[in-house]
Amino acid sequence: TRKVIIDCDPGVDDALALMLAHGSPELDVLAVTVCGGNQTLEKVTRNALSLADELGMDWIPVAAGAERPLVRDPLTAGHVHGDTGLGLVQLPEPRHPLDERHAVEVIAQTVLSNGPGEVTIIATGPLTNLALAIRQFPQLVEHTQEVVLMGGGVATGNLTPVAEFNIAVDPEAARAVFTAGWPVTMVGLDATHQALATPEIEARFAGLGTRLGDIAVELIRSYRDAYKHNQAFENPPCHDPVAVAQVIAPDLVPTRRAPVDVELHGELTTGQTVVDLRGPAPEDCPTAVATGLDHAGFWDLVVSAVENLGEP
Ligand code: BDR
Ligand code: CA
Repeated sequence: TRKVIIDCDPGVDDALALMLAHGSPELDVLAVTVCGGNQTLEKVTRNALSLADELGMDWIPVAAGAERPLVRDPLTAGHVHGDTGLGLVQLPEPRHPLDERHAVEVIAQTVLSNGPGEVTIIATGPLTNLALAIRQFPQLVEHTQEVVLMGGGVATGNLTPVAEFNIAVDPEAARAVFTAGWPVTMVGLDATHQALATPEIEARFAGLGTRLGDIAVELIRSYRDAYKHNQAFENPPCHDPVAVAQVIAPDLVPTRRAPVDVELHGELTTGQTVVDLRGPAPEDCPTAVATGLDHAGFWDLVVSAVENLGEP
């Protein structure tokens, strides 16, 4: 099994990412850390704790981190994720305790208390926590196995024509993470816009007949409404679980090595991930970008993870 930390901002699709991670025998989720993004830090932290209850993440620390981006003003996405951050889904008040430590400490202590190269960080929100973590604990760069993040796109965006939400919310943090020198795999819109939840997929979750299967259905329905209104998608793209799938089954999310940087000062392009695909990547290039997705294989993985979680 691979040891992972999930740094997230739940978030409708972050919730699906947590289900995939915790329901997959290939992964051992060591900690969940939270960053303001889709909603305020307060709301996404509450969501993470409630999800920890629903998923039976009994001993897994859940810690809150950055309330706002490194230098810019906070930007949330209530028009996509709803007022609570979880769309139509209403979860009871959390019982899971909030870890007293800051997310940055939890990330550092978790990675550094394991052997070098043993812990992978999966990030599905703005990259503020990760940027703060490597600033405060530079040894994380050497000690972390890999960072796999949902964010960016090779030549496409969603918040703007060229900038994806997670990167655009905190582009300074994203640049710090992409250029730190540790291995980073960017799972961007090129892959995640293919993770479409069709009515057939929805029916498979409904067919599980479990509470979590029903929650997955509600999450997908919330996303379907939002994406019809905001981005003219017939079926909603479920971004964040694709980053988790890349760690579980790399064959489902093929990647290509390429240098990646982030535009910070563009008049029209701030927050764009600038991916150099002009030639073969240099030998020592530590970054890679996802190029596509095996749709059927991906959803098989998510459905079976939710099935594995059963009735917690
Ligand atoms: C990303 O932005 C957020 O709204 C989603 O949770 C996902 O992480 C997609 O651009
Ligand atoms: Ca997210």
